[in-house]
Amino acid sequence: MSKKHTAIVLAAGKGSRMQSAVPKQYLELCGKPVLYYSLAAFEESFVDEIILVTGKDDISYCKEQIVERYGFQKVTKIIAGGAERYLSVYQGLLAAEEADYIYIHDGARPFVDAAILSDAKACVEQYQACVAGMPVKDTIKIVDAEDFAKETPERKYVWQVQTPQVFSYALVREAYDMLMEDRDAYSVTDDAMVVETFTNQKVYLSEGSYENIKLTTPEDMTAAHGILSARTREL
Ligand code: CTP
Ligand code: MG
Repeated sequence: MSKKHTAIVLAAGKGSRMQSAVPKQYLELCGKPVLYYSLAAFEESFVDEIILVTGKDDISYCKEQIVERYGFQKVTKIIAGGAERYLSVYQGLLAAEEADYIYIHDGARPFVDAAILSDAKACVEQYQACVAGMPVKDTIKIVDAEDFAKETPERKYVWQVQTPQVFSYALVREAYDMLMEDRDAYSVTDDAMVVETFTNQKVYLSEGSYENIKLTTPEDMTAAHGILSARTREL
């Protein structure tokens, strides 16, 4: 039987670092909300189903102004997230029980594309766990508590990770169930960490792109306009 590939698209954050009145996933880029672009990449892909996780007060806005307005057919559920990203992910996992593979993606990362998704698919089918990433361009320093450089990791081994972060369902569900039992003991910044901490599965780095940026601070919006207008010119 063919396997079910399910995306969890996260849009339940408040976007405090963006300092905008509207949460960043709803800011407009060339006339459409940021979240439109993230959803469109999955809608146009091999993914079977999309679960959209948003704030409980934004469910009807997402349904009417994004999913229905742009005709996304693969969004089967729009659910409320939690106060932290990992809690939103967990709600998505609970809603995705029939999935074989889960693609966890930041709604605030609108430039995910077909190549990133197909590379992730190939990698998760082979390794059960992969995250999109790219080697860093800058040299990275580990600093001490007083901001003095302590270590310089060899650059070719330092990657910046992005989303999608992709796992076999049973694996990521098991890891998150364990995290939820003792959640105050961990500070979780990505999904791979949860799998690395609670299972023996190694996480492969699949090929992301330098354009697959997360919109975090105001200057990221300037970069996003640049990426989008370059893409529009290419069409
Ligand atoms: N996210 C979520 N639920 C949360 C927190 C974050 O679904 N409780 C989502 C965001 O909407 C975003 C993604 O996770 O798409 C990445 O998180 P981040 O960039 O940290 O977004 P915010 O938490 O919204 O921003 P900030 O940390 O600046 O407040
Ligand atoms: Mg956040």
